[in-house]
Amino acid sequence: MDSIIVRGNGPLKGQIPIAGAKNACLTLMPATLLSEEPLTLTNAPRLSDIKTMSQLLSSLGAEVTSLQDGKVLAMSSHDINNHVADYDIVRKMRASNLVLGPMLARLGHAVVSLPGGCAIGARPMDLHIFGLEKLGAEIELKDGYLHAKAPNGLKGAVIELSFASVGATENILMAATLAKGTTVIKNAAREPEIVDLATCLRAMGAQIEGDGTSDITVQGVDRLHGATHPVVTDRIELGTFMLAPAFCGGEVELLGGRMDLVESFVAKLHEAGIDVEETDKGLKVARKNGRVKAVDVTTEPFPGFPTDLQAQFMAMMCTAEGTSVLEEKIFENRFMHAPELVRMGANIEVHGGTATVHGVETLKGAPVMATDLRASVSLILAGLAAEGETVVSRVYHLDRGYERVEEKLSNVGAHIERVSE
Ligand code: UD1
Repeated sequence: MDSIIVRGNGPLKGQIPIAGAKNACLTLMPATLLSEEPLTLTNAPRLSDIKTMSQLLSSLGAEVTSLQDGKVLAMSSHDINNHVADYDIVRKMRASNLVLGPMLARLGHAVVSLPGGCAIGARPMDLHIFGLEKLGAEIELKDGYLHAKAPNGLKGAVIELSFASVGATENILMAATLAKGTTVIKNAAREPEIVDLATCLRAMGAQIEGDGTSDITVQGVDRLHGATHPVVTDRIELGTFMLAPAFCGGEVELLGGRMDLVESFVAKLHEAGIDVEETDKGLKVARKNGRVKAVDVTTEPFPGFPTDLQAQFMAMMCTAEGTSVLEEKIFENRFMHAPELVRMGANIEVHGGTATVHGVETLKGAPVMATDLRASVSLILAGLAAEGETVVSRVYHLDRGYERVEEKLSNVGAHIERVSE
């Protein structure tokens, strides 16, 4: 298993290219199941989660060809010959559940393993099931698998979600494109990944309005056709790398960065005393002098502060001037990075969904363990700002969501290397 070694760093300078969004790509890929014609995604990120989704789609009979070193994914679901998404693949990655809606809509039946809990919380699928049942699906849980069928086809319905779940909105949206009549998803998630999915589905011939707002309306069509679609910029990778110069000082330009993807996050960076400006090629982040200021953060659905940037922001707050309070409102157990940061000298108290971070002058390098994807990158950022050497082990989490992290950071002057054990 690989580890990442990080040494405390001076100011960073240069440019970091931002990849296509993992979370968008993982929902765009299952959209291939909706059509017999090919779907091609450009600007795809090169990540292990994308390989897992390719394996899952291939196991269902789809063809997935990775071109241009993985940046282009050419997919065809002409011959879907299996409707069972096996536990062995689904358990590796929760986003596997996004094949449920498309398979049900296209084939009229699907069997998908329940993903089970994960390190950051229980993460049930009740809202996905609720929405698909409203569309006329019959869903039963047997032997750990959801058995879904739509003997009379799917029919449009008004579906009001009790929580604006990203995954549930995506599954229902995809299923509704081929349902008969009109579907309205109320309290829909508004994340940019939903807008990206809707844009791709429209390119495939779907009739969708209102994506990016809380009410999405879908007029079902008989069939969808092929399309080519570029994956939207990864706002979480963007936010993560924006924090590198914020931590270490210096000035870094994030190529492909878009302000509209990270507005609430940028507002918090400004409060902390970090400069962010738009450039022709993306966003430029600079911290010139002194410590960052402590800032309070509450995670919320988009356009609020993203839960996927909470761990990284907490790492920065560890050396801020003053005390910051971070409230996690999306996942119940998403502070596993806190004890690791404490091993590096941070002063953090966690009570339920609230973490109070008392800023200290400096962190000290230490051996630490990555517990989930975003936690692992928060420890790398902390290591860049710490005195001495930090060894982050169990970095397979990192490879699920960050493309060539050590290369991107060392190109702007960070002391970071990967070692294989
Ligand atoms: C997606 C992202 C994940 C991000 C999250 C929130 C992907 C692959 N993953 O996850 O990185 O952290 O959005 O922005 O895109 N919930 C239910 N019942 C359900 C579904 C969800 O109670 O049926 C709850 C979850 O337990 C959680 C909350 O809703 O507390 C948010 O989940 P959701 O928005 O669905 O996130 P994901 O789609 O799993």
